[in-house]
Amino acid sequence: MSSIYINNVSFAYKNSDKLILKDINLEVESGEFVCILGQSGCGKSTLLRLLAGLEGATTGEMLIDTKKIVSASLDRGVVFQDYGLFPWMSAGANIMLALTQSFPDKNKKELKEIAYKFMELVGLDKSVYKKLPKELSGGMKQRCAIAQAFSINPPILLMDEPFGALDAVTRAKLQDLLLELWSQEEQKKTVFFVTHDVDEAILLGNRIIVLGQSPSNIIYDCKIKEEDRISRENQFDNIDALKLRNTLIQQINKDVVIRIEKFTE
Ligand SMILES: Nc1ncnc2c1ncn2[C@@H]1O[C@H](COP(=O)(O)OP(=O)(O)O)[C@@H](O)[C@H]1O
Ligand SMILES: [Mg+2]
Repeated sequence: MSSIYINNVSFAYKNSDKLILKDINLEVESGEFVCILGQSGCGKSTLLRLLAGLEGATTGEMLIDTKKIVSASLDRGVVFQDYGLFPWMSAGANIMLALTQSFPDKNKKELKEIAYKFMELVGLDKSVYKKLPKELSGGMKQRCAIAQAFSINPPILLMDEPFGALDAVTRAKLQDLLLELWSQEEQKKTVFFVTHDVDEAILLGNRIIVLGQSPSNIIYDCKIKEEDRISRENQFDNIDALKLRNTLIQQINKDVVIRIEKFTE
């Protein structure tokens, strides 16, 4: 099981006393696919960094089941906006490093097979294995990071706008792959997926959360039943999908309107 509990979490970066997150309370059941929406700068990445254990909460606590999050751990695969690959290691070596840590009992040949399998799944050619991150395009680096996170098969996936730098077709393919990997497993992964794209959130999430800002907290939270899941085919003509889309856009914009009013007062 891998439920996540965020209890009264507030957060300010160490070099500043401005609260970025304020009084966040959230309970995520094991296997939920949570999409986080919100304006740029509202604290989505910050929240994910806390869940990854890269930052500690200023007040409050975060738990996975009963264990407090205190540092990064192999039970959480991360795909961040800046790809997270070590620049001095080849793409393949980056993936192998994560695999070696996750599967200490497997030999190098077995691990290499896993690495190639996931590189192929995300649409990367074998020749990419030996290339350094600086020799790859943004989209390719992003796919490497995704292959790395998927290959270690963690119970929790933390993804920060992972498909942002991709062209529309690759993006759609990887969205489908992510959903497939998530839904086919008996013990579903708990996924935290940050996006600023309302349509992507509707397509992927079975729970969608909107963060407001200054300081950020949860201003909207809805669950989508599995039987009501919206497919790529009916996303733009299903009335429920369109209603949800409108609600989410209103929620995101409501926060902007309030902030503009405060700004002009
Ligand atoms: N390392 C940092 N030090 C200080 N402030 C930061 C740091 N990283 C981000 N911030 C600030 O925290 C706020 C939230 O940023 P971020 O979490 O990146 O937002 P989002 O991902 O929603 O765009 C922004 O105001 C940003 O300027
Ligand atoms: Mg961000």
